[in-house]
Amino acid sequence: MAQGSGYGKVILFGEHFVVYGLPAIASAIADSTIAELARSGDRKGKPGSTGAGVFVMEGDGWTLYDARPETPGYKAGKAEEQKKSIDLMLAFLKVDTKKTPLDIRLGGVLRAASGVGASAASCAAIARGLSGLLGLNLTDAQVNDVAHEGEKGYHGTPSGIDDTAATYGGLFMFRKAQPRNIVELISTPKSLDIVMGNTGMTASTSEVVSGVRERKAKDPQKYDKVFREAEKLVMDSRKALEAGDVHTIGTLMNLNNRLLQDIGVSNDKLETLVDIARKEGAPGAKITGTGKGGYMVALTPGKHMQERVAKAMENAGFAALRTTIGGRM
Ligand code: PMV
Repeated sequence: MAQGSGYGKVILFGEHFVVYGLPAIASAIADSTIAELARSGDRKGKPGSTGAGVFVMEGDGWTLYDARPETPGYKAGKAEEQKKSIDLMLAFLKVDTKKTPLDIRLGGVLRAASGVGASAASCAAIARGLSGLLGLNLTDAQVNDVAHEGEKGYHGTPSGIDDTAATYGGLFMFRKAQPRNIVELISTPKSLDIVMGNTGMTASTSEVVSGVRERKAKDPQKYDKVFREAEKLVMDSRKALEAGDVHTIGTLMNLNNRLLQDIGVSNDKLETLVDIARKEGAPGAKITGTGKGGYMVALTPGKHMQERVAKAMENAGFAALRTTIGGRM
C-alpha cells in the first residue's frame, strides 16, 4: 500500500483568464487530499468502510472508495469526470490494470467541492500514490504532469494552475506556456488570513469554461477589454502582495470580482457571500475558481476579522473555511 497527497488551492486573481494564457495568482491552502493506493486484494477486507459518506465507484480494473468530506452531491455529480480522470492518469503512466487491479481510497480534510482545487488535489494525491505503489519514483514535475493529465477529465482544457498548486504548494504567479508553464513564487511580508465561503453548489468547470468561450466569440470587443484589464490587474496584484498592502490587495480582489461578473460566471449565492464579507469589513472579496457556485474568497486580515466574517457566513447558512496563505518563502 502507498500514500500520496495533494493540496487544495485558492485562486486569488485571474481565474478563467488564465485558460487563455494570461497570468494568474494562486496559493495552496493547508487542507489536502490523501490517496491510498493498493493492489486489489492486498488489503485485509475492503479499504475503508463502504458505509456513510464513502462513495464507491468501479472502473476498468480499479475501484474507488471516496471518503472525502463533500458538498452534498459533488461526488455523484462528478463521477463520470472522475472516472475519465483516473483512466487518463493510468493510461498516461501506462499502468495495465488487467495485470495490476487497483484499490484507490481518497480521504483527507479538503472538502470535495467546486472552487477549492479538489479535483487537482485528488489527481496529485493519486499520482503520488501510484508512484509509491508501483515504484515509479516520480519527481514533483512528473507528478504535476500526471495530475495535469487527470485534470483533463474534469476541465477539458485545464490551464494547469490547479495542478501546480496541488503538487507544489505555496503562493505563486502562474502563466500557461510551452514547453513548460511559468511559475514564480511570491513572498508576502506577513501571512494573510482568508475565509473561503462555500455556496454549497457544484459547478461543472468544463461547462462554465465553455460558456465563457462562447460568449467571448460572440462579443470579442467587450471581452478583449475585460481581458486587458484582467492582465493589468494581476500584475498590480503581485506588487501589492509583495508589499503586503492589504488595502490594495482587497481593492484589486473587488475589481477582479467585477471582471468575473462581466464574463458571466457569478451567481446570487456567490454575490450574497461577497456582500456578507464586505459588510463585515473585509477589504476584498471575490469568486474563486470556476464560479457559478463553488467557493468565494474574502481577505480578512487578523484572526478577529477572519472569525467575524466566517461566523457571519455560517449564521447565513453557508459553510466557511478559515485558512492562511503567503508569508516569507
Ligand atoms: O473551480 P476550480 O477550483 O477547479 O478552478 C478552475 C479555474 C479555471 O481558471 C476556471 C479553469 C482553469 O483550468 O484554470
